[in-house]
Amino acid sequence: MGSSFGKVLRVSTFGESHGGAVGCVVDGFPAGFAVDLDAVQAALDRRRPGQSALSSPRREEDRLQVLSGMEGELTLGTPIAMLVWNQDARPEAYEHIRRLYRPSHADYTYQEKYGIQASSGGGRASARETVARVAAGALAQQLLGRELGVEIVAWVEQVGERAVPDGALSEERLSRADVDADEVRCPHPETAEAIASMIASVRDAGDSLGGAIRCVVRGLPAGLGEPVFDKLEACLAHACLSIPAVKGFEVGSGFSGITLRGSQHNDAFVPAEGGGIRTRTNHAGGLLGGISNGEHLRMRLAFKPTSTVFVEQDTVTREGAPIRTSLSGRHDPCVLPRAVPVVEAMVALVLADAWLLQRSRRQETQRS
Ligand SMILES: Cc1cc2nc3c(=O)[nH]c(=O)nc-3n(C[C@H](O)[C@H](O)[C@H](O)COP(=O)(O)O)c2cc1C
Repeated sequence: MGSSFGKVLRVSTFGESHGGAVGCVVDGFPAGFAVDLDAVQAALDRRRPGQSALSSPRREEDRLQVLSGMEGELTLGTPIAMLVWNQDARPEAYEHIRRLYRPSHADYTYQEKYGIQASSGGGRASARETVARVAAGALAQQLLGRELGVEIVAWVEQVGERAVPDGALSEERLSRADVDADEVRCPHPETAEAIASMIASVRDAGDSLGGAIRCVVRGLPAGLGEPVFDKLEACLAHACLSIPAVKGFEVGSGFSGITLRGSQHNDAFVPAEGGGIRTRTNHAGGLLGGISNGEHLRMRLAFKPTSTVFVEQDTVTREGAPIRTSLSGRHDPCVLPRAVPVVEAMVALVLADAWLLQRSRRQETQRS
């Protein structure tokens, strides 16, 4: 349970952080679609550890292997299995911490749940699992891009106290190239520089940082999302909150809407240039009643500071005895720069699923 996601486009991921491999099976992907495998690899490269001095030094090439569901670059409509071998797993590095519960990690809860757990590196709770999400999400992004012209761009908006000033970025034009221009994936150069030096100094002190990632989706048609329990924002929240270390999710005005009056918050409908309807503002974040309204989808995710810190902390042994510990090993002092492609992948999986569902309904309607 818990390792599969989506309704029409169903993704199951497998693999532990320090096991043999991580991967996914993507079922329900349309047949006859020419996948750009280089673009899938490029997505994995954006998530890979060791990209910069500010990320985990674990040495993984993360080379994609497609095992089934495709001939050459063409999808067959059958389950697509994709795999990445773990090359730099080091279970021995966890020997000294096997007897205790690491604060803010999932060791304790996995042990309570299963009565057994992967003995190194967080097992399924590890961000290593997100390799599989990024591979599956890259397929979804290609489908959405080619069929609908949808663009999904996420970026680091804030780390610690340092945030991109309000209104400093144009969400209309921001591209992945803008985001990737800096190693911290913050497309506001002044903020990016401050964030980079903050991460470096906190890392050198053995500590860690959290922050916020913002994501915008452009070109999404109106009408995607299901009513009531499967509202699109509910599915997006599910997807985003399933990313390791995510602790908060907002759509549109989110928590800042708390202090506005309805008259300030309502988005006025106006005739769109060239026909149709638009809204003058977008506090709704592109969703009304859980269904896309054709405006940009706007989301924000809060990430906690990385659990692994090298400063001394209180914890308990597996037998419950208090102990002081300071962890060591390879880790991201701030997970946000590497989490950007993971956010884009999860958003893409939700939207591709919603679109395939809507497409099947509309086709059925047309036939009857
Ligand atoms: C891209 C990415 C990289 C991560 N790297 C680390 C890391 O190096 N060290 C760490 O302690 N947590 C890291 N995390 C977060 C942990 O996997 C996560 O906090 C932990 O398993 C507990 O799960 P929870 O925070 O969702 O409760 C990372 C998360 C992401 C999205």
